[in-house]
Amino acid sequence: MKLPESQVAVLETASATDERTIEELAEQTDLKPETVTGAVFELEEEGLLSVDERTEESVSLTEEGEEYAEDGLPEIKLYEAALSAGADEEPIQMGQAIGQSGLGGPQVNIALSNYARKGYGSIEDGEISANAGTNPEDDEEASALSALAAGESVDDADVLDQLESRGLVERAESTVRSVTLTEAGVTAMMEGVEAAETVGQLTPEMLTTGRWRDVEFAEYNVAADAERIDGGKVHILRQTANRVKDVLVGMGFEEMDGPHADADFWINDCLFMPQDHPARTHWDRFALSNPTEIRDLPDDLVERVRRAHLEGIGENSDGYHSPWDEEFARAIALRGHTTSLSMRYLSGHAVGELEPPRRFFSVEKVYRNDTLDPTHLLEFFQIEGWVMADDLSVRDLMGTFEEFYEQFGITDIRFKPHYNPYTEPSFELFGNHPETGELIEIGNSGMFRPEVLEPLGVDCDVMAWGLALERLLMLMYGFEDIRDVHGTLCDLELLRDVEVIH
Ligand code: PHE
Repeated sequence: MKLPESQVAVLETASATDERTIEELAEQTDLKPETVTGAVFELEEEGLLSVDERTEESVSLTEEGEEYAEDGLPEIKLYEAALSAGADEEPIQMGQAIGQSGLGGPQVNIALSNYARKGYGSIEDGEISANAGTNPEDDEEASALSALAAGESVDDADVLDQLESRGLVERAESTVRSVTLTEAGVTAMMEGVEAAETVGQLTPEMLTTGRWRDVEFAEYNVAADAERIDGGKVHILRQTANRVKDVLVGMGFEEMDGPHADADFWINDCLFMPQDHPARTHWDRFALSNPTEIRDLPDDLVERVRRAHLEGIGENSDGYHSPWDEEFARAIALRGHTTSLSMRYLSGHAVGELEPPRRFFSVEKVYRNDTLDPTHLLEFFQIEGWVMADDLSVRDLMGTFEEFYEQFGITDIRFKPHYNPYTEPSFELFGNHPETGELIEIGNSGMFRPEVLEPLGVDCDVMAWGLALERLLMLMYGFEDIRDVHGTLCDLELLRDVEVIH
């Protein structure tokens, strides 16, 4: 029988009685593991080998795990310090125990959160006591760490779970294949197998000389394991931002751009936001210290905005009757929404006077002095948009959202009446989180009030919105913490593996 060289080598190394793993075969034949895997699959198909597959778990120490394997676990250091200060007789001050233990930084918290759990003693009212009867030598987590560091295996799944949740070990699963010769394999070997020259790649030279007629070609094995390669790729947030832009352009919108740091005038005053509105305090905004203000605001617009704030617009409107300070309006801050861009464009100061119907959008960063939590960041991307046309109604607004979100597979958005100083009526948008089933807020919208439009010189209807790109992403991909896609705590696996559907 004639077989490709690698298959002959594998057959010669395999045994009918002892299982050999792919790794062992690779070592003994001096072939690459992937070549051996390919040969093994071929031989299995020809009935000459039988292949047994099992999943093996490997456990390895993380950097932190290695550190503790060497220096000892923080809770044990704390226990030893507490013991030597006599905390087994009487509770001692926590500060004293920590000082003596030599622990610093995050290790202090790690020690404290594991100390009582593992029965080393208790911590109460700033005092720590130590149980005399506990022996750190019996600490299962410490023993498991040293065993792993010594290259030994640990079987206790509970201890491994605990170490994994502490981030001290990493577990990975791999498939181990081992092979034995079948009866047919043994027979073939006895009858004799010969190596045939096999060619992995057809070359121009083979074609011109006609040598391709005499060689045996190696078959492709599409089932063989391949090395995992994580290439660079565009971040899903950016991919989705680009898709949002494509969708909006497809719906007839044009893109706006403009400053990230802008005068409060454009961010708030044009939007009929009273100057004493709570969102305008220094708690909520990121002010700029250099430069602190914008000098060149359009005088006529400033005057009209001032009048709207003081007196209102038209018969049915009333202003705020509180002072309106131009200096306050000139102050620069990072924009808390991209509605500042909408104001610049609607006012005619960005790309000139606009005639209805026109539609504009932006997908840009905004900055808010919020408290970080799973759904809030200090900066996020806002999908801003507006349509200016005669006789727009709320149905147009809702229909636009339905059409937009449908492009992302989201067909169950809900609307809730809302209040904005600059729109009437106003609606918040909600969507169902695919994993938790909870309704999450995904945007805010409305029809701009005359107090906004008239000073800008717009005399038709304008419907407008600000949607959160990250929230759209949550609905699309089902993650629950916005920090999974942003910043140093991001979920690399999600970012690598997520499929972006086009
Ligand atoms: N500026 C609003 C926000 O950031 C969004 C919005 C824009 C609402 C335009 C209505 C009209 O939440």
